[in-house]
Amino acid sequence: MKENNGRASFSSSFGVLVAMAGSAVGLGNMWRFPYLVGENGGAAFIIIYMIAVAFISLPIFITEFFIGRRAQADIFGAYEKLTGSKKWGTIGLFGLLAVICILSFYSVVGGWSVNYLGRAVAFEFTRADTSELGNIFSNFVSDPWLPLIFHTIFLLMTAVVVILGVEKGIESFAKVMMPVLFVIIILLAIRSMTLEGAGAGISYLFKPDFSKITRGTVIAAIGQAFFSLSVGCGTIITYGSYVSKNESIIKCSAGTAISDTLFAIIAGCAIMPAVFAFGISPSEGPGLVFVTLPYIFAQMPLGGVVAIFFFISLLLAAITSSISLLEVVVAFLSEERKMSRKKAVFCSFGLFWVVGALCSLSQGKLSDWTIFGMNFFDLLDYVSSNILMLIGGLLMMIFAGWKIGKKALKEELTNNGTLKIAPWLVNSIVFLIRYVAPIAIVAILFATYGIFY
Ligand code: PHE
Repeated sequence: MKENNGRASFSSSFGVLVAMAGSAVGLGNMWRFPYLVGENGGAAFIIIYMIAVAFISLPIFITEFFIGRRAQADIFGAYEKLTGSKKWGTIGLFGLLAVICILSFYSVVGGWSVNYLGRAVAFEFTRADTSELGNIFSNFVSDPWLPLIFHTIFLLMTAVVVILGVEKGIESFAKVMMPVLFVIIILLAIRSMTLEGAGAGISYLFKPDFSKITRGTVIAAIGQAFFSLSVGCGTIITYGSYVSKNESIIKCSAGTAISDTLFAIIAGCAIMPAVFAFGISPSEGPGLVFVTLPYIFAQMPLGGVVAIFFFISLLLAAITSSISLLEVVVAFLSEERKMSRKKAVFCSFGLFWVVGALCSLSQGKLSDWTIFGMNFFDLLDYVSSNILMLIGGLLMMIFAGWKIGKKALKEELTNNGTLKIAPWLVNSIVFLIRYVAPIAIVAILFATYGIFY
């Protein structure tokens, strides 16, 4: 393994890009983005989402990358190493909590994907009575045992890759799977856009209706921009800490943001045209991928095969992201608690299994158990995207932009002046990190919690 001052590291620029893109591209793009677009009126939501990516999420991405690569340490150690004091390490707590929330429900949905891949391989959707497909989903998720078994399988698959390590596990897996994933999603989009009646879905995705925008739309778009780029919780600090000092932070961050956004839009093109071609309402909510799509597969020419490829890609997208979430905790346990990688994976597995099991049960047996009107699953989703990641991102930018400061940021973004990057670009990024993105986050926090009306 290539070592970087005794630390594991990614072996090539391509490896860094696919690992980062692997973290960003996930259920957020294929499961969450399409239903949010559907619930929030299509193209107008996409435009706000892209603005949020460019002006808020991407600056945080660069900030996390900066912190991780400069410190070469985990999400607590990094702050300590850069300041020499334990105090700032508290920021890491927001990240750790966010990661626990996200991976727990993520692994449950990952488990659903494994199960649905199995059903697709058995050609269950094309054989079932279409009116039954909604029941198949609700019976499955509310079953006390079956989803737990698949949650366990999904978490085990994630753990195996993480145990293999940064280069042999995470990087090698992403190098093969990310290209495969992009090819499959493009083929699926072509299939969907060539269906008769697909035009309505395409104009839904690309013709904005600004009258649909409300405060809720904006809040949802910003939450999604955090979630989809994996920012605000320390995944990019952790991955950044495995990146060599020769890579360009700006290039790699922009490359990841562009791949992630492109992927979300291509996934939208794979889903919406088919939804409209079959005359279904796009605002189906979280069931879109698991209820509406199987219904479409059942009726579409070649639907059985398309279903298999769709669920393979959903699963691949999910695993490369869950790996990055697990790695945050594993890096923390091995560096701060001096555990071996195996032991760290084992302990985190236990934690995620238990919290994930509660999420899974909250879809059935524990559905009456609500907190602030949400079941446990929805609560973790909400708290991570709309509170923890926002506050985490805000604190990271205050730390990097104000505590560590402009000079260090510029040094790291240009690799001490050795990269030829236009000064206006570096200055604008620093300005976004110090002013624009933090102010936008404070405004959105106020707007969300009803202080501004
Ligand atoms: N970005 C991933 C997705 O879109 C989810 C994720 C969030 C992964 C936060 C890591 C950290 O599915």
